[in-house]
Amino acid sequence: MCIFDAPKMISQNTIQQILSRIDIVEIVGEFIKLKKRGANYLGLCPFHGEKTPSFTVSPTKEIYKCFGCGRSGNTISFLMEHEKYSYTEALRWLANKYNVEIEETETSPEYKQQQQLADSLYVINSFAQKYFSENLFNNEEGQAVGLGYLKERGFREETIKKFQLGYCLDEREAFAKQAIKTQFNTELLVKSGLVTIRDERVVDNYRGRIIFPIQNTTGKIIGFGARIIKSNDRAPKYINTPENEIYIKSKILYGSYLARQAIDKNDECLLVEGYTDVISLHQAGIENVVASGGTSLTPDQLRLIKKYTNNLTIIYDGDSAGIKAAMRGLDLALEEGLNVKLVLIPDKEDPDSYVNKVGAGVFADFIKNNKKDVVIFQLEVALKDAGNDSVKKSTVVNQVAETISKINKAEDFTKQQDYIKQCAELLKIEESGLNALVNKFIRERVSKQEAKLPINEAIYHDDRSKKGASSIEDDTLSLLQKDELHERSMIRSLLEFGLREWDENKKVADYIFEEAVDQEMIDNKLLVRIMQLYKEMYEANLEPANKFFLHHEDEEIRNLVTRIMDISDDLSPNWKDHYDGKIFTRDELYKEEVFSSLNYLKLRKIKRLIDTNQKDMEKPHSSEEQLMMLQTHKALKDMEMELTRQLGTVIFR
Ligand code: CTP
Ligand code: MN
Repeated sequence: MCIFDAPKMISQNTIQQILSRIDIVEIVGEFIKLKKRGANYLGLCPFHGEKTPSFTVSPTKEIYKCFGCGRSGNTISFLMEHEKYSYTEALRWLANKYNVEIEETETSPEYKQQQQLADSLYVINSFAQKYFSENLFNNEEGQAVGLGYLKERGFREETIKKFQLGYCLDEREAFAKQAIKTQFNTELLVKSGLVTIRDERVVDNYRGRIIFPIQNTTGKIIGFGARIIKSNDRAPKYINTPENEIYIKSKILYGSYLARQAIDKNDECLLVEGYTDVISLHQAGIENVVASGGTSLTPDQLRLIKKYTNNLTIIYDGDSAGIKAAMRGLDLALEEGLNVKLVLIPDKEDPDSYVNKVGAGVFADFIKNNKKDVVIFQLEVALKDAGNDSVKKSTVVNQVAETISKINKAEDFTKQQDYIKQCAELLKIEESGLNALVNKFIRERVSKQEAKLPINEAIYHDDRSKKGASSIEDDTLSLLQKDELHERSMIRSLLEFGLREWDENKKVADYIFEEAVDQEMIDNKLLVRIMQLYKEMYEANLEPANKFFLHHEDEEIRNLVTRIMDISDDLSPNWKDHYDGKIFTRDELYKEEVFSSLNYLKLRKIKRLIDTNQKDMEKPHSSEEQLMMLQTHKALKDMEMELTRQLGTVIFR
């Protein structure tokens, strides 16, 4: 999460109070109807269309999981996903619900420092904007070259002022000199992209260019696009601000500040490629328009649009590379539940040149009458491409089914059905066939997500019909390939059972840390971090509760912990086969689980050592060295055997 989204920090104390009151059934129950089913609650999944409930909520583990679409999470992530809240917004919502008074803390020194840096950049940008505008209107060169150019292109003075356009003089250091005189810090000036260092001198970066300031959604200037005036093969057409603390390209939609009210009013957002497209459409009275800069739409940009409207209309010129780029963002847009339409501008024009050519009225009518649903459009293009080639056509069928499968939110269920109907017609195939194919893609995605599920399911759902002495080793090997599963299982054992007794003298956590589980044994950096956090808390005598990790402010930690916790393992069906009728739960077998998780990781470490040793042996060595290596090999092999045997007795008995 971007730190600038959270101007004030909620105190740790408040967060603890909120977390201690969370009742996941109560919260989720506010949004969907839940029925008690055994220890858990069951309802229709709000994240994908379904008719029989597979959305399961576990009050004891405080997580939910949908066995239809595979989505899982905790109370906070539910609010974030369902209500589109940020982490802090979700906390505030909960605080309000549970009448917890929010205490705001002194911001951390790092945060303060970041904010000061950001503030300085805003100040520099604002200064630069005024300076460049001043040049455009009042400097001789600015008027002649800059303003002349803009007027020739048809931009009126009020429009130029509205968009705060400017001109950077064609001199080596005109701006740099002013900025330094105003005592701006050189390092910050370089960060802002307005200047660069050349031959140990601070020089202007946008010499002789038209300046387009770029505002964030609140109107602050976060950066600039600088357009060359005379076309020149050697210089880029636009120079843009480099990524810095406030200019984050993936989050920028040019024009969003000036467009937001019109987007809201029209319940539609128009998307064009360039700065000049936005400006010309504004001048023509079409104000609900933003530009992406011609790159593919990012999740952040889509989210920004979705805050204002569900209706996105992409307006690009017919043969622009930008269309392809925009299409890359299409699946994502569909997943977000946006209705995406496309309008292609004819005759090699772009929106800017076209509106100037035909006038505002004709342009607006053209947009209204030529909106094409983007999924249908893609299908038509692909079909035309495929012609009578049946192989190509079947590829098209698959592609469109996959696209439709992305429309997967419960509220979009009818939209999905509509698409299936329309596309089946265009493809001249049975609707039910396409429906089945769409479902296949949804299932495939789910099983891909399931591959990331915790170890137990994977192990105990594993087919182990053949069981000879040799197959044990095969099994072990195949399981070892599921490396990540073992690492997760280890951490899950720690989180779930860490505070339980190992023997009279120590707890499970002591045992795990004693066995030197560390960076060497676990590859996944995030899991290592979770373990270290646990260790720190444990050693400080703070109880490292699951809650702490489940609701951690770091999204990655939250997500991973949610994923490794599982609510389906309370009763794993295959246990039955291994224990002669008596069904043990994981709860009863926690020592075995800890023991085997640990041994898998040890075994992996040994296998790696054997590998390295073997590779070493292949190189030329003295006979003494050779002997040493052989002995090492033998010792490692013995350890490997012993561990495999122990594992076999625990897992495969
Ligand atoms: N762009 C860029 N860098 C470039 C070229 C393009 O960042 N070297 C981005 C700019 O945001 C630009 C958009 O892509 O506005 C579209 O590019 P293009 O169509 O070439 O420019 P226009 O905006 O149409 O500019 P003009 O009308 O002045 O040609
Ligand atoms: Mn253009």
